[in-house]
Amino acid sequence: MSHTLLVTSSPRGADSLSSRFATEIAEGIQARLGGPLTVRDLAANPPPHITPAYIQGRIRSAEDHTPEQVEAVKFAQAFVDELKVADVIVLGSAMINFGLPSQLKAWFDHVTWPGVTFSYGDAGPKGLLTGKKVYLVTAAGGVFSEGAWAPFDFQTNYLLHLLGFIGLTDVEVVRVEGTVFGPDAVKAAIANAETAIKALLAKAA
Ligand SMILES: Cc1cc2nc3c(=O)[nH]c(=O)nc-3n(C[C@H](O)[C@H](O)[C@H](O)COP(=O)(O)O)c2cc1C
Repeated sequence: MSHTLLVTSSPRGADSLSSRFATEIAEGIQARLGGPLTVRDLAANPPPHITPAYIQGRIRSAEDHTPEQVEAVKFAQAFVDELKVADVIVLGSAMINFGLPSQLKAWFDHVTWPGVTFSYGDAGPKGLLTGKKVYLVTAAGGVFSEGAWAPFDFQTNYLLHLLGFIGLTDVEVVRVEGTVFGPDAVKAAIANAETAIKALLAKAA
């Protein structure tokens, strides 16, 4: 039995390839390992941007919170609770202006929480969400896994860094890329993602 958390974030709705393939992985994992599946759709229900109430509230104990701080910290607590209980996390991200969707950035701003998901020790920062498997699906119009545009991938590399910072270091990446180059390129990107996902699910069984 395994608890799976699916987090999608593309603003492209039903056209989203990252949401489609992240969902395929999450449902595939659930079918193989059993257990509950929690779905967090950050595009349908965007987290707020973080505010002074959140910044102050997250380092104060609950009994000292103002009503505004209670409200602000509630989002972060809900997201972190979902992460803590999950054995497997599947994350879908769409490249928007070379980075991640702002909805997903806002989610990371809530879950990257000192003393809760990471701590500072003598040896520097330490991620606290350990022992979990992550599948990261990143979609992009261009090709960023190699070639001239690779230095401008501020999506996949940044996400890997953010995940690692909170202790999520066991990450399998599926890239759906190059879809801007026409229908054949879309077909090839989809076929590549399907092949990669089949192999990953076979390993998970
Ligand atoms: C507002 C917007 C901005 C985008 N910016 C970029 C970009 O900077 N680089 C790129 O390669 N593709 C860009 N794209 C293309 C998307 O990354 C591509 O359509 C990808 O499949 C989106 O992920 P999704 O299918 O999960 O929605 C952009 C698309 C939109 C709608």
